[in-house]
Amino acid sequence: MKTKALAAVLWELLAIGILTACGSSTEYAEVGAEEDSLITVGFSQVGAESDWRNSCTNSVMEAFSDDNGFNLIFSDAQQKQENQIKAVRDFISQDVDYIIIDPITESGWDQSLKEASDAGIPVIIVDRRVDSDDSLYTAAIGSDFELEGKKACAYLKAYLEKTSYKGEVNIVDIQGTIGASATIGRSKAFDDAAKENGWNVLAQETGEFTQAKGQEVMESILKRHDNVNVVYCENDNEAFGVRDAIEAAGKKVGTNLKRGEILLLSFDTTRAGLTETLNGTILVNTECNPLYGERLASMVRTLEEGGTLEKHTYIEENQYSANELVKSVVVDGTTYPVTLLTQEILDERPY
Ligand code: AHR
Repeated sequence: MKTKALAAVLWELLAIGILTACGSSTEYAEVGAEEDSLITVGFSQVGAESDWRNSCTNSVMEAFSDDNGFNLIFSDAQQKQENQIKAVRDFISQDVDYIIIDPITESGWDQSLKEASDAGIPVIIVDRRVDSDDSLYTAAIGSDFELEGKKACAYLKAYLEKTSYKGEVNIVDIQGTIGASATIGRSKAFDDAAKENGWNVLAQETGEFTQAKGQEVMESILKRHDNVNVVYCENDNEAFGVRDAIEAAGKKVGTNLKRGEILLLSFDTTRAGLTETLNGTILVNTECNPLYGERLASMVRTLEEGGTLEKHTYIEENQYSANELVKSVVVDGTTYPVTLLTQEILDERPY
């Protein structure tokens, strides 16, 4: 608890003394003390652009409940960084105990982080990253987005080899939000792999991590190129939009390039995304885990107890395919398993 909250408790104790002296019951005082013991956390969320994002929000809301000892102030930035900057200022003026930011873009954070730091409020960065000096925040936990992209591209390369496909790879990258870590990492992995493997990149455009934009962009790409045979979608919702655009153009998504089917690669492994993987619409789905609630709550508790946190933590993530041909991928000398997706695995998924 910070100074302001402590002062509130002292006032409360003073009130108890006065009330007790007047013969009042202590029940009122106990209720007040309980409220003051909640840890106040301001959370600036990106928006509600995808299924992944909604699972992330639910996970944080569940973990930071009153019953768990938290007072969560949630702010939805609607994909606009200016809203996040304002939310952080509001959290500071409310003198919250902790601030959690899921940054829409990596850049543009120096001033806000400095203001939080000057106010003595610890900041935890979650999911995506910021490019500010890391002395300006307490800790960061998130995905290694470039590794996710490398695993997806390694899968594609291995799949083409296993199916003995010797033709041209005419590939499209439907990117996420420009400037977001998830886009920067996954697009970099794509660019490197395309160059290394001689894939023919027909288009690389943002679908803003939404189904509607993914569909709109893919429709326009299909009008310009009739030879697309692989689409690298930077999240599941974009993949749903891309699938709809392909089918509306009279083409077929699937797992067989030689039969003229278009391969889709995706990220997130949401329940809806994996359903499309199980039925062969999305060839491979690389996990990006949104369940940060408990991890963040435990980080805050550690700080409350006077402990320290790792500065940067990457979470472990898997990869799922409905096709048994590729059982593992090798990235930078490390072998990562590819899980053959089954209905049982899908049924047990928590998001
Ligand atoms: O930052 C994580 C990414 O953001 C997820 O891949 C995407 O679905 C979300 O909107």
